[in-house]
Amino acid sequence: MKTIAVIHGPNLDQLAKREKDIYGGLSLEALNQQLKTKADDLGFDLRFFQSNHEGAIIEEIHALLALDVAGLVINPAAYTHSSVAIRDALVMLTIPIVEVHLSNIHSREPFRSTSLTAAVVTGQISGFGVKSYEMALQAFL
Ligand code: DQA
Repeated sequence: MKTIAVIHGPNLDQLAKREKDIYGGLSLEALNQQLKTKADDLGFDLRFFQSNHEGAIIEEIHALLALDVAGLVINPAAYTHSSVAIRDALVMLTIPIVEVHLSNIHSREPFRSTSLTAAVVTGQISGFGVKSYEMALQAFL
C-alpha cells in the first residue's frame, strides 16, 4: 500500500480554536480522522506530522527523502508566505507534492496571496476547507 505524508504547519494544532468562519471549527484530530477515512477508501496509508516550528517541518521533509512515500500533502500555514527554507527543502523531494489551504488564500489579506512554496510543488488547492486535503489525496490516484 502506498503511503502519503501529510504535514500541517503552525497553529493548525489549534484548528478548533481558530477563526471558525474561516477555518470551520474542526479540530486537527477530527480533520486527520476524516483524511484517514478518505485514504482508506482510496487505498493509501497516511503519515501525519504537525509542528509549530519551521526547523521541525524542514527535518520532517528531510526524513521523507529516506522513506518510501508516494506523495506529500502539505499545508505550510503561515510559513507559506514567508519560508524560503521550507521551499528549499521541498525542492529536494522528487515525489509529487500538493500544497493545500483550508481557506482561499487568494481572497484574504494581500500578504496571504503570496505563496513561496506554490512554484515548487505539483499543484495548490485552496479554499475548500477539509475538502482541500481530500482533493489532494484524490490527486494521487
Ligand atoms: C492557511 C492559510 C494561511 O494564510 C494561514 O496562515 C494558516 C492556514 C489555510 O489553511 O487556510 O495558518 O494555510
